Amino acid sequence: MAVIVAQGLEAGGHRGHFLSDDLSLQMGTFALLPQMVRAVDVPVVAAGGLGTDESVVAARALGASGVQVGTAYLRCPQATTSAVHRAALASPAAAHTAVTRLFSGRPARGVVNRLMRELGPMSTLAPAFPLAATPLAPLRASAERQGSGDFSPLWAGQAAQLCTDTDATDLTRRLAQAWQSGNT
Ligand SMILES: Cc1cc2nc3c(=O)[nH]c(=O)nc-3n(C[C@H](O)[C@H](O)[C@H](O)COP(=O)(O)O)c2cc1C
Repeated sequence: MAVIVAQGLEAGGHRGHFLSDDLSLQMGTFALLPQMVRAVDVPVVAAGGLGTDESVVAARALGASGVQVGTAYLRCPQATTSAVHRAALASPAAAHTAVTRLFSGRPARGVVNRLMRELGPMSTLAPAFPLAATPLAPLRASAERQGSGDFSPLWAGQAAQLCTDTDATDLTRRLAQAWQSGNT
């Protein structure tokens, strides 16, 4: 059976946004979700900014048939998140994420770092997808060796500050219980 993921602009990483380059067309999760639920007759999975008990209950109340959670798992011990990425997520920098094309050539949301600040997150200086990552690789590797994420993609959504180093199994069980508690 087909399902559709309603990914709001809060979401970390690359976006499900292919028909236009106009990023102003993106909606927040809780604006997009009920409109998609109304527009289609297949189950809709909510994504973007979710990861707390209250948020999955709210997504369910708005008609979601499930949730897709990314950022909330990034600090789990089971995640393969790099050391510089974990450090950024655990720091005050996690409060500021932005959509950038600098790291891959396609828009994706991550913690704002030096490269994004100095070039501008949507700078056209970066080559088109998928060529942007290669020229950046030596600089990124050198910085990471020195413990710096200044030139690394630090993918994360707008709820990055809610992300903790909790165990992935515990987090999944907790979110599933919260989802069930919203069963009306
Ligand atoms: C580190 C990271 C990598 C991701 N990579 C992809 C990807 O390769 N393709 C994709 O469609 N979405 C990707 N996403 C988006 C997720 O599939 C999901 O929509 C998103 O994480 C949900 O929002 P949240 O991060 O606020 O939980 C990624 C998200 C993160 C955080």
